[in-house]
Amino acid sequence: MTANQQRIEQHIELLNRFTATPGAGVTRLTYSQEDLQARNYIKEKMVEYDLTVTEDGLGNIFGKLEGALPDAPSVIVGSHFDSVPNGGAYDGAAGVVVGLEVAALFKENNLKPAYPLEIIALVEEEGSRFGGGLMGSRGMMGLLTAEDFKTLADKDGILAVDAMADIWVNPAKAKKRDPKTIKAFLELHIEQGPILEETNIQIGVVEAIVGLTQLEVTVQGQAGHAGTTPMDRRSDALVSAAHIIAALPGIASGEGQGTVITTGRLNVFPNGANVIPDKVVFSVDIRSGKEEHVLNAVRKVEELIVQQDGNGIRTSIEQQLYIEPKELDSSIRSLLKEASDHLEIPYCSINSGAGHDAMVFSDYTACGMVFIPSKDGLSHCPEEWSDPGHLADGTTIIYEAVKRLTEAKTT
Ligand code: GLV
Ligand code: MN
Ligand code: MN
Repeated sequence: MTANQQRIEQHIELLNRFTATPGAGVTRLTYSQEDLQARNYIKEKMVEYDLTVTEDGLGNIFGKLEGALPDAPSVIVGSHFDSVPNGGAYDGAAGVVVGLEVAALFKENNLKPAYPLEIIALVEEEGSRFGGGLMGSRGMMGLLTAEDFKTLADKDGILAVDAMADIWVNPAKAKKRDPKTIKAFLELHIEQGPILEETNIQIGVVEAIVGLTQLEVTVQGQAGHAGTTPMDRRSDALVSAAHIIAALPGIASGEGQGTVITTGRLNVFPNGANVIPDKVVFSVDIRSGKEEHVLNAVRKVEELIVQQDGNGIRTSIEQQLYIEPKELDSSIRSLLKEASDHLEIPYCSINSGAGHDAMVFSDYTACGMVFIPSKDGLSHCPEEWSDPGHLADGTTIIYEAVKRLTEAKTT
């Protein structure tokens, strides 16, 4: 039995509609009305596929098919359902849809697993609303403190707990998931880069995920009149921020070895055409396959920022996320490759330059990821697209691996 491509396409198409920016890609921020619409759709489908639906205190969604073995740990399949601003229809959503399709196949084939199957849809992987990223998985595994969470707010000052209340997510349900209740985590994701398309191989079995950090930099200066303040009397926060940002590509290429640095978010205050900016807040995202390069780059970026201090300028840096490179489980990688061989679907091994919730889960359980090609290597933009045939093949591979992992004999 192979995955139903039409059903998969329909899920993608419907989830794609839950966006705050119709016609300009998917913008589905965590705890927004679009989150609520997608959440309701995912839960409805989970019920249709005979799963028992629950939400945890962060609003992560779980659909469970009980196993025959008492108190056995679950095999979890899924991904995240938030998006970046003006992103695509596949990043995260594809992996959630794969989970739904695996559940549909279990139902259609009347499969009764020995180990429970859990389909998961995670919140705030991107960090687009509350910063940092991987919040759903980190919160689920107890890595966010209740204290941190109480004061967590978006850029408009809206507290996460208030945004949750608006869509009936209940933080009082927060409870750390016991790692002993998880046997494995599998995720299909689009590659988000050009390698699979260029090599014309439709499946990538992920070996490792890059290490990454995200800094939030604040540059504080002095506001003033744009027409009357002489150039030598200014403490312009934006000019200082621009010096820093313009030097980042040089630090990345100097470090080499595939190190990348990006500023993707920048807020200027008070943001008036005739006012000298008194404050700029921007992100610095640093990644590399080797931890030493991430650490070196962080040090150099910090030195660069501190050099701007003086003449009325003060800088500060908050590290919002740090996660070292992670290798995925070798036995799950072998299982995914065996399933691909068996189905005669060509595959290769690949590394991920994007962060994924599997980075968090891999400290607690065996994790595996399958990539499918991204058209023109594009992602985090409205043009993001993957072939539904590849998505269906990837789903069948995950389904075969899940069948094996939920059987009584495997340990
Ligand atoms: C998520 O897409 C990330 O890599 O930041
Ligand atoms: Mn993403
Ligand atoms: Mn993603």
